[in-house]
Amino acid sequence: MTEKDAVAAGRTALVTGANRGIGRAVAAELYRRDIRVVVTARNAEDARATAADLGPGARAARLDITDPDSVKEAAERVGPVDILVCNAGVLLDAGTDPLSVPLELVEETLRVNLLGTWRVAQAFVPPMVRRGWGRVVIISSGTTTEFGGRLFAAAPGYSVSKSGLNGLAAMLAEQTAGSGVLVNAVNPGRLRTRMMPNQPNPPEVAAPFIADAATLPADGPTGGFLTEKRGPGRA
Ligand SMILES: NC(=O)c1ccc[n+]([C@@H]2O[C@H](COP(=O)([O-])OP(=O)(O)OC[C@H]3O[C@@H](n4cnc5c(N)ncnc54)[C@H](OP(=O)(O)O)[C@@H]3O)[C@@H](O)[C@H]2O)c1
Repeated sequence: MTEKDAVAAGRTALVTGANRGIGRAVAAELYRRDIRVVVTARNAEDARATAADLGPGARAARLDITDPDSVKEAAERVGPVDILVCNAGVLLDAGTDPLSVPLELVEETLRVNLLGTWRVAQAFVPPMVRRGWGRVVIISSGTTTEFGGRLFAAAPGYSVSKSGLNGLAAMLAEQTAGSGVLVNAVNPGRLRTRMMPNQPNPPEVAAPFIADAATLPADGPTGGFLTEKRGPGRA
């Protein structure tokens, strides 16, 4: 174990949408770092199967981030966590534009990505503040920044939802400043998942960077938008 990993070894981490893609890769990376991982998914069986794949000690819980009862139930079952990775998300409006996108798609996108993440934060961050230690990573996206400083207009609801998440991370960081809790938004770069099937890099490529953001030392950043630099042609 490196000195860096020792910061969080033995801590408990909860990852949303951990049954596939980036969430699964991050859960596996945290598990590898001797963190007690709680794999959550909206389908209980998916969560159980992924936790079993990770190995002994990994726990599973059903957690649909859009369902207040599900979030409450998961918070009660799991108890306080030290690390929260808000990863679950949807991309529903790719290939549209702001003037013609069906607003039902935007509404659903905001319901999952923004409000769902916000709901999970409301459930799991206050106990971190009370306990005086916490690391929160909100998975954002380059659609908020990488298009000449503008939002990516060809997935307008998605881009606005991720921009909202950057704002949420900044506000949570401000509210928790000095409490021992660090909150950051992370841009994972483009990765080959169900959401982005044609990308060259698998999610495992970004998992160490995201896990680093979830295990920052006490003097680490808060309220940041952290982007991994994978070099020229970063995919
Ligand atoms: N892939 C990329 O290039 C990329 C780039 C930037 C940001 N991101 C972000 O990274 C995150 C993970 O995306 P991914 O690429 O790994 O996509 P993915 O393979 O489609 O995984 C999305 C995950 O979110 C879960 N989810 C969706 N709605 C949920 C809900 N209501 N409650 C709980 N879980 C829910 C999915 O569960 P089910 O399996 O049940 O559907 C799945 O586990 C997303 O926030 C995405 O916006 C991805």
